[in-house]
Amino acid sequence: MSSEKVTLKKTKKMDGLGWIEWLRGLSNVLQEMFFQRVMASHLHNPFPLPPLNHLTCIVTGSTSGIGSETARQLAEAGAHVVMAVRNTRAGHELIQQWQTKWSASGKGLPLNIQVMELDLLSLDSVVRFSNAWNARLAPLHVLINNAGMFAMGGAQRFSKDGYEQHLQVNHLAPALLSLLLLPSLIRASQSRIINVNSVIHYLGFVDPNDLNLVAGKRKFSSLRGYSSSKLAQVMFNNVLFKKLPLETGISVVCLSPGVVQTNVTRDLPRLIQDIYSALPYFIYSPQEGCRSSLFSATASQIPNYCEKLKTNHKSVCAYISQNCQPTNPSEEARNIETSNKVWEKTIELIGLPLDAVEMLIEGEEVQCRYGI
Ligand SMILES: NC(=O)c1ccc[n+]([C@@H]2O[C@H](COP(=O)([O-])OP(=O)(O)OC[C@H]3O[C@@H](n4cnc5c(N)ncnc54)[C@H](OP(=O)(O)O)[C@@H]3O)[C@@H](O)[C@H]2O)c1
Repeated sequence: MSSEKVTLKKTKKMDGLGWIEWLRGLSNVLQEMFFQRVMASHLHNPFPLPPLNHLTCIVTGSTSGIGSETARQLAEAGAHVVMAVRNTRAGHELIQQWQTKWSASGKGLPLNIQVMELDLLSLDSVVRFSNAWNARLAPLHVLINNAGMFAMGGAQRFSKDGYEQHLQVNHLAPALLSLLLLPSLIRASQSRIINVNSVIHYLGFVDPNDLNLVAGKRKFSSLRGYSSSKLAQVMFNNVLFKKLPLETGISVVCLSPGVVQTNVTRDLPRLIQDIYSALPYFIYSPQEGCRSSLFSATASQIPNYCEKLKTNHKSVCAYISQNCQPTNPSEEARNIETSNKVWEKTIELIGLPLDAVEMLIEGEEVQCRYGI
């Protein structure tokens, strides 16, 4: 084959997903949208939780939607919950409402829940949050990277750190948070990093040399920004999962919550929002949409499942479907070569040394370019 042909083929691939892969991805998205309720008919709602008094959990983005339900239900099961949110006032108001209802129900002691500030649009804020948390020298059992954004139909916007906002909120900031909290996660004998991902990652395509979508090879759309950020999240976690030795006891999971009625649709035109909310049979309530998060955070089989993936030398982290079943992420998400490149690029963008994980596992201090 001539070198010209090779270049042409590569360019085509770098331009994005082929039509066939894209249509296959779309069929997965539609299947989730229209058949999720049938597929999850075996699940109870609310998801039954055992007593969780032994767990400390951080839930990011817990002021609305899936995150708020997740935080409330974990706290009602006895866990110590930290709501990591950018709008701390909204967080405090929610806690007040939940405490009032909880004490009126006479079910037990007040909920053990608190608020800490975390704005994922600022990597400085992520470092500040992690430093404050690690300074407690307490074990962290579950980190739920739930916060996310989908500015549907919006123009391309950048954070003050210079990164495309979907990329930063949905991938870079949670990646930095997961790594910086490793010392606290290691302190718990068994812990979990749970990433609320999306079936829409099937429509994503990541060019590791253009994570920020500025090279102009592909025109920006909010769907492209969102789907690519969710795909990058799976790829990054594939490598994180491999890098964490079994002895750390840390499980890494990505999951799909399903298609859920939340504030995620707030940027849609009114008419489409009305159509969306007129589909209650198909769309989950937040209580239904948080089941795969609660399952991933608490089910006893998760550590064994992750261990099995590791000992079988599988190179992808666990992926849990909206109906709480282990499943495979998209074919593109399982591309090991691209996953490694996404890892390296991500580490560079979040300002950490390439051997940050190894250093943190050894108990060494790691300098981040942010938060100084
Ligand atoms: N709803 C769905 O159908 C669906 C489907 C697949 C995946 N997901 C994923 O599920 C997760 C939860 O979303 P949701 O549907 O529950 O949406 P939501 O109701 O809009 O909740 C998103 C949460 O993330 C927080 N957040 C957004 N930007 C943030 C930032 N810069 N820093 C800190 N927190 C920030 C929001 O805080 P504010 O209240 O301050 O904005 C809010 O608490 C997201 O990762 C989303 O991608 C949702």
